[in-house]
Amino acid sequence: MSIDYTDISQTYDEYRSFSKHRTQKLAEFGGIREGMKVLDVGCGTGSLASQLLDLLNLDIVGVDISLPMLRAAREKSLEVICTNAANNRLPFRDSCFDIITATYVIHQISNLEHLFSECHRVLRDGALVLLTSSHEQIENEHPVFKRFFPGAIDIDKARFPDVPVICDLLVTAGFHDIKHEAVLGERISIDEEYLRKVKGKYVSTYRLLPQTEFERGVNKLETYIRTLSQPEYATWRGTLIYGRKRG
Ligand SMILES: C[S@@+](CC[C@H](N)C(=O)[O-])C[C@H]1O[C@@H](n2cnc3c(N)ncnc32)[C@H](O)[C@@H]1O
Repeated sequence: MSIDYTDISQTYDEYRSFSKHRTQKLAEFGGIREGMKVLDVGCGTGSLASQLLDLLNLDIVGVDISLPMLRAAREKSLEVICTNAANNRLPFRDSCFDIITATYVIHQISNLEHLFSECHRVLRDGALVLLTSSHEQIENEHPVFKRFFPGAIDIDKARFPDVPVICDLLVTAGFHDIKHEAVLGERISIDEEYLRKVKGKYVSTYRLLPQTEFERGVNKLETYIRTLSQPEYATWRGTLIYGRKRG
């Protein structure tokens, strides 16, 4: 399902970012080390790439379909290329990357077989590292979907391929040593600041909900937050998935 990132690009970095801890976890899980050549697919505003560069000396390039998102990445002095990773050949020669990352991207790619096969082609002996949400996490762990936006669960389960499906597609594309792990994404304080982010539709799911349902959920959430005498915390986990290409 295609999302227009023109508006989202204006506030993306304000609402969503990679913490040092989450970046370190992803780097450890993927075996990302000093000096590696890294491709970040669906790099968006370059939030992960810039955090990785703070952590390690890497040669990173990002690709994304959205020019407004890429403009924000360029402002961070990142090297980026505009391409549609769902259909196009990735604009790189065979076997030239050690690591490919794709965080919260694969649910927006209509042709994952094509993407995984292209990732396999441009990797040398190296790994593809994905960060996504499992169906279990969407259904049972999201901090506000179940209580306030129940329709969001089916929307996300329909567009996020579940972990076993992704693992099968990786095998079909030629990847080995597949593994996955639930990781802490964000610790969220359910408060006025969080409400402001939800009102700004900071994740694309809210843009896919019918407007009346979205407004009903926002009103319920607003009323709930105003009843809280102290902030309520929730953790929202993600799932890291790894596949290796043996060169
Ligand atoms: C939720 S954002 C994630 C951005 C970044 N990876 C992050 O974790 O902050 C999804 C990104 O995928 C990009 N995207 C969606 N479909 C794409 C496609 N077919 N080819 C390349 N990028 C795509 C969007 O433009 C957007 O920047």
